[in-house]
Amino acid sequence: MQKPNMLEAKKRNQHEINYTSYKELKDKFGKNKKYFVRTYGCQMNEHDSEKINGMLESVGYKKAESYEDADIVILNTCAIRENAHDKVFGFLGVLKHIKDTTNPDLLVGLCGCMAQEEVVVNEILSKYKYVDFVFGTHNLDNMLNVIKEKIDTNKNQVEVLSYEGDVVEGVPTVRDSIYSAWVDIQYGCDKFCTYCIVPYTRGKQRSRKKEDIVNEVKDLKEKGYKEVTLLGQNVNAYGKDIYDDYNLSNLLSDVSDTGIDRIRFVTSHPWDFTDEMVDVIASRDNIMPYIHLPLQSGSDRILKLMNRRYTSEEYLKLYNQIRSKVKDSSITTDIIVGFPGETEEDFEQTLDLVNKCKFDGAFTFAFSPRENTPAARMEQTVSEEEKMDRLHRLNEVINKYSNEANKKLMDKTVKCLVIGESEKDNTKVCGYTENMKLVNIDGPHSIIGKIVNVKITDTKSFSLDGKYIEE
Ligand code: 5AD
Ligand code: SF4
Repeated sequence: MQKPNMLEAKKRNQHEINYTSYKELKDKFGKNKKYFVRTYGCQMNEHDSEKINGMLESVGYKKAESYEDADIVILNTCAIRENAHDKVFGFLGVLKHIKDTTNPDLLVGLCGCMAQEEVVVNEILSKYKYVDFVFGTHNLDNMLNVIKEKIDTNKNQVEVLSYEGDVVEGVPTVRDSIYSAWVDIQYGCDKFCTYCIVPYTRGKQRSRKKEDIVNEVKDLKEKGYKEVTLLGQNVNAYGKDIYDDYNLSNLLSDVSDTGIDRIRFVTSHPWDFTDEMVDVIASRDNIMPYIHLPLQSGSDRILKLMNRRYTSEEYLKLYNQIRSKVKDSSITTDIIVGFPGETEEDFEQTLDLVNKCKFDGAFTFAFSPRENTPAARMEQTVSEEEKMDRLHRLNEVINKYSNEANKKLMDKTVKCLVIGESEKDNTKVCGYTENMKLVNIDGPHSIIGKIVNVKITDTKSFSLDGKYIEE
């Protein structure tokens, strides 16, 4: 058994990262069996689940329609806020009931960021003994060996490393979409924002080699993909750990040169956002004019306590630079309210900045103390009631601006990548504009998978309606 250790996870060692290839398992122990994977959290987890699916299918498992008819269920978890925990433990309870009644042979596994937390693994070992295996984010590629060991020995398995693993290339992947693909460019994060658990659960920053990324994009383009989203916790720091003179702006240029139709990237940290990066985004047609630029707070005092390394003025300068250089750009953000020590005045400074920036949209969160992070040890001065009140007031302002941004698109003709049938109305299709706005489109199903012109006919807070315009 290898349990996680949060103190070890905090250490940043100097040893070099090994770049290795995935070791395929020939044993088809999943033959005639079905799998179900439930994913919580961010896009990194979504993409990790595509790898989990790929590895399971490589040993014979087939996708189950629901967890009720699966032989193996894996929960790929998120640790960013406490409410993510509650959902996972709730679902584990449902799976226990299935094991106790209809399917005692069901294998239940837990992985992802929660698996990297000591408290979670201790709780599972003491109270959730029906969980058959646990593996962490650093040894995802070893998942099949962990499952096989469970099947062969019938002993519960816990395999969680508290130091970052190798960068493993070539992990089999079953992608959810055939038009738009996630591409990892970097794992981990070294920023240590004081509220954030990610540097502990995902380890130190490790960039993938540029040629592996570019080749993956070329391969996706050949397979017919129209869009790639480059993924990392802090993509603007790409390359710092392995190259002296190659960074995100170089990578964006090289990926742009592949000729793939659309390139996106998440998540940006304002600290590492250079002028060259803004210029590359502005000058390349296939780099989408959409940037997610987390602000977190508009108060310099709170930004400092958060260890964000920029002031509200520096943020605003970068924001205005992007707006002025990148034509028709959209910028969205993340904001936390109720950070320890946040006063009404600090919160009002956040509202002020939101009023200046007029974001296209925002993910807003109430501060949630996370195990072992510095902010969890600070005096918790903001009551839950006050957090909810601030969240509510913030959301009202955010919604006003996202509505306004959407209204500006009324009657305009925009390019959309059509990704499938509309969830609201199966006679319609849906897609995303270049700046990442969801459009429900009055148009034939034959345009799914294509980039087409759409005239916007109605706007709402979170989506748009439009009509397909034939070329
Ligand atoms: N509490 C609340 N929100 C958090 N985030 C990260 N950690 C916490 C926390 N402890 C938010 C940040 C980040 C987004 C992914 O989640 O805004 O940008
Ligand atoms: Fe967390 Fe992002 Fe800060 Fe890294 S940069 S510590 S992932 S909030």
